[in-house]
Amino acid sequence: MKSLSINGVEIACIDRGSGPPVLLVHGFPLDHTMWAGQIDVLSSQNRVIAPDLRGFGRSPVQGDKVTMEQFADDLADLLDGLSIREPVVLCGLSMGGYIAFQFQRRHAKRLRGLILCDTRAAADAPEAAAARRETADHVLREGLTLLIETMLPKLFAETTRREHPHVLERVRRVMRTTDPRGVAAALRGMAERHNMTAALSEMGCPTLVIVGREDVVSTPAEMRGMAKAIPNSIYVEIPAAGHLSPLENPAAVNGAILEFLSSPAGGAKVATATGRATDF
Ligand code: MLT
Repeated sequence: MKSLSINGVEIACIDRGSGPPVLLVHGFPLDHTMWAGQIDVLSSQNRVIAPDLRGFGRSPVQGDKVTMEQFADDLADLLDGLSIREPVVLCGLSMGGYIAFQFQRRHAKRLRGLILCDTRAAADAPEAAAARRETADHVLREGLTLLIETMLPKLFAETTRREHPHVLERVRRVMRTTDPRGVAAALRGMAERHNMTAALSEMGCPTLVIVGREDVVSTPAEMRGMAKAIPNSIYVEIPAAGHLSPLENPAAVNGAILEFLSSPAGGAKVATATGRATDF
């Protein structure tokens, strides 16, 4: 893993392989290791950049609130720091997807394509935003135990819980080692993120929308609606997966991503052996 200091912000990242760059942006409150099932596979054909966002993994905490715009700007700075000038495919999961929307707004020229995994375009309702701010205060006072035990059961499909309990344990370990100050800063940032629903129809770049069939956080119904609203998009449901589909069913997710990467102009329908593509 390398660590870059850019504009006073330190960002640690995996930088592996060569070829058209793919930027993998993790969810909350995780780190680059959530892409363990993708990094080796994708880096056989692509340059894969998988950062720890500021305040997560090996990237130190900076600030007591980090907006989705700030995270997106960090990513653009990271690409500069790595001398990546050509457009990238940005793949973001959940909070990584919220950041992807802001990257697309602010750095559109740097994007070749978008992969939105298990994420949402809508902002938090006022009560949900208030609850996030309360959770931020709580984790600073009491630590992460309550947050972890509340979140974990919602993240996985029944199949993962039954057949791959080690995946849950891995995620629990990552969460436990995350700095509560980084968690609180991201919670405050997510609480004030913009509603991107109306902007979906104006998104210009080819987009792959991926969702775990058993995702109860960003449901297939919601993500199908998102894909329908994005002009140049492909929708794929991943079986035997919940909210953390890249970890739960890496083969199906990789199949969808590899097909998307090989036809970056989008528009072609994806039909993986294990996923399901929908023709609008
Ligand atoms: C994530 O997986 O990144 C979270 O579910 C995002 C959120 O809390 O909205």
